[in-house]
Amino acid sequence: MTVLLTGGAGYIGSHVAVEMINAGFNVVIADNLSAGHKDVPERIKTLTGVSFPFFEIDICDKEAVRGIFDSFSVDAVVHAAGYKAVAESVSLPLKYYRNNTDGALTLLEVMAERGVKAFVFSSSATVYGIPDTVPIKETAHTGDCLNAYGRTKYIIEKILEDLCRSDPLFSAVPLRYFNPVGAHRSGLLGDDPIGVPNNLMPYILRVAAGRLPELNIFGNDYPTKDGTCIRDYIHVVDLAKGHTAAVDYAVKHSGYEVFNLGTGIGYSVLDMVRVFEKVTGRPLPYKFAPRREGDSAEYLADPSKAEKNLGWRAVLTIEDMCFDAQRYEGGKEQ
Ligand code: WQD
Repeated sequence: MTVLLTGGAGYIGSHVAVEMINAGFNVVIADNLSAGHKDVPERIKTLTGVSFPFFEIDICDKEAVRGIFDSFSVDAVVHAAGYKAVAESVSLPLKYYRNNTDGALTLLEVMAERGVKAFVFSSSATVYGIPDTVPIKETAHTGDCLNAYGRTKYIIEKILEDLCRSDPLFSAVPLRYFNPVGAHRSGLLGDDPIGVPNNLMPYILRVAAGRLPELNIFGNDYPTKDGTCIRDYIHVVDLAKGHTAAVDYAVKHSGYEVFNLGTGIGYSVLDMVRVFEKVTGRPLPYKFAPRREGDSAEYLADPSKAEKNLGWRAVLTIEDMCFDAQRYEGGKEQ
């Protein structure tokens, strides 16, 4: 089976590429290399021992996308290309609407031209906005997103719903990621945010490496066990394996079916600090700072639908996430 993977040189996409190749799929990668290392495709080849076609293109370029479908008989698409910096999406919404929404539309239009009917989409738990209850099921309310990034994910989910309504043979499987962290055990793949990181784990790694003085913990007055926010952190390798299961599902079914990809286990910011220090032996100086706008006290997946329908569940631990993330960061220090 041939799968076109967009964003396959990115943090999530590169891990998805490795797991899909290991699962025996013929993977074709399209990426504009706007994020991460330019040698990620080589690293994927090193890790899998498999060469694969790589197209350095922008998926908003319809002719370039058509060129891929002219060259390969694509059976399914995993769409992981997109901008994902929440704070940037607030200051530059048009950049996000153009790139994320236009990219998905271009891809879907070419798929329609070529009769390709299976689409796995990198969505996000952020479509839930501030959840009414946790753990969060896929049937929970969506759409009250807190930022343009989340709204692009929500809009693309709605496009997919309408597409499945218009074409009963189309198969759309959005995957709502909770908090992906960690890195490939080899130390060759990982997260490389540009500039000062917004997300917790990349920031912790910079503090542990002495590149930032201390962690600012945004709020310790939340209604949680220790006052800091609780999140459902999921190892990026578990997340990647969820995509392989989702492709298998998408090609065997039709219609719109959305899945949470999370562990169902919550950890507070202070939990993460303590686990990181224990696992890596690196002290993590921190101080409490005011709450960050848009944060909610607790975000936790109910992952049971993916377990039941995809035969997938996360197995790697918070310790694995810290250890693997540090190993990747450590490789950068050398
Ligand atoms: C986690 C917790 C912060 C940094 C975001 C996106 C979501 C998804 C995952 C793409 C929060 C606290 C953080 C810091 C801190 N991305 N924190 N100090 O906000 O849960 O989710 O990333 O799909 O769409 O919204 O993740 O890692 O930014 O924050 O105290 O320097 O860590 O307040 O409680 P978040 P995060």
